[in-house]
Amino acid sequence: MSFQFSPQEKALALRIGEAADNLNLEAYIVGGYVRDRILGRPCQDIDIVCVGDGVALAQEVGRVLNIKSEIVIFKRFGTAMLRFGDLELEFVGARKESYSRDSRKPDVTPGSLEDDQNRRDFTINAMAVCINKNRFGELLDPFGGIAHLEEKLIRTPLEPDKTFSDDPLRMMRAVRFAAQLKYTISPETFDSIKRNRERLRIISMERIMTELNKIILSDKPSVGLNLLSESGLLGIFFPEFENLRGVEVINGQGHKDNYYHTLKVLDNLSTETNDLWLRWAAILHDIAKPPTKRYVDGLGWTFHGHEVVGARWVPRIFKRFKLPLDNKMKYVQKLVRLHLRPISLTNDAITDSAMRRLLFDAGDDIDDLMMLCKADITSKNELKVKRIKSNYEKVKIQLSAVEEKDKIRNWQPPISGEDIMKTFSISPSKQVGVLKDLIREAILDGIIPNDYNSAYAYMLQEGKALGLTVAVIN
Ligand code: CTP
Repeated sequence: MSFQFSPQEKALALRIGEAADNLNLEAYIVGGYVRDRILGRPCQDIDIVCVGDGVALAQEVGRVLNIKSEIVIFKRFGTAMLRFGDLELEFVGARKESYSRDSRKPDVTPGSLEDDQNRRDFTINAMAVCINKNRFGELLDPFGGIAHLEEKLIRTPLEPDKTFSDDPLRMMRAVRFAAQLKYTISPETFDSIKRNRERLRIISMERIMTELNKIILSDKPSVGLNLLSESGLLGIFFPEFENLRGVEVINGQGHKDNYYHTLKVLDNLSTETNDLWLRWAAILHDIAKPPTKRYVDGLGWTFHGHEVVGARWVPRIFKRFKLPLDNKMKYVQKLVRLHLRPISLTNDAITDSAMRRLLFDAGDDIDDLMMLCKADITSKNELKVKRIKSNYEKVKIQLSAVEEKDKIRNWQPPISGEDIMKTFSISPSKQVGVLKDLIREAILDGIIPNDYNSAYAYMLQEGKALGLTVAVIN
């Protein structure tokens, strides 16, 4: 069977093949590139395997293609990487590889192409295309990768327990490919993931997160997260999410199953945004519902304060997951803390003051917060959803009106601490803070408009009330 390159990549593959012929090496393009080209997906990395010294081939390719940029050599792995335009070319010698039971360090020895294909993760990733001149374009598909692409099936080339025990990260990768490509994991492969799930513990959190984030960024993230949960992988690194499962019933009253609710919110949101961190906010928005759950007679189920406790958990979860602890974490934390605010506004008569406070607290993240809130409206009761959604739209309209009028988003105090100290001739002190707070509250409550003159007059009035006197300026 032969393989179709794009014209540009064909020219490149021919030159790489020529370099391999110069060194008398068999050379193949393998793995993700072959899969993605057949599927018509974009692909920036080309992995080249040769039977022999991969680093020597990289150097010869650099010479043939007259590549001036550096060849990056990873001696420990016997691999070399070079850039060619937008493409990243990675070279490696074919090898047999296996991992010891309790380590991720591979035991690598040179091998044939067949050995190399055997040690790969899935049949759809184990296809190779020869690029030597005399066999150019010949496709080697020993495990039925093409058929499995057609059947939309994720399956390991060898007995799955062996493939997963060689590199347990592959269990996450199986779910990731299933989620990204909308494929099914074959039953034997899935059963093996269930059996081997504990082995995931030897994998670093960074590698687990790379896969989890790809799952979260797939079109319908609930598919991948459900597979992680059903296989038992999720509970190994994210027990808080598993804890969302379940419905308790007291006096015939049950609450929502927060696991399914969270997935629904995440899917709803994912139809509107590809932002990874906004999707993370959806994942974590109700994470502290289990520990805050109470049944109150006459009121039913409450989760009082779950948004505050949840926000407190965010840094801990991000730290454990080795996710960035910078403003990305702060952003997720803020959305978790504020996620009930816009919806709570839909229940009451909406005051402009409440709107100003929301704009003040959310700042530039107000639009994202509103998006999260809209996604959070889930109920089996269609009428209820319709009613809350229509209230939500009203809140949105009123928010823009208040924003237009009062410019509270990213609010800067019209009167500074300096102004206060100069006016009353006082040094930095508690009184300065008290006055600043009074002015801010007055603006947010709508007692005075958000401008300098009004704030100045208010400062004089409140300063006097605090016993301060206006300094005489000579
Ligand atoms: N591979 C593997 N086991 C792993 C990782 C990778 O067998 N744990 C093999 C697969 O053959 C894979 C190839 O190495 O196709 C390249 O891996 P990588 O670049 O990580 O993934 P891709 O399959 O290219 O997919 P993506 O680019 O979407 O990550």
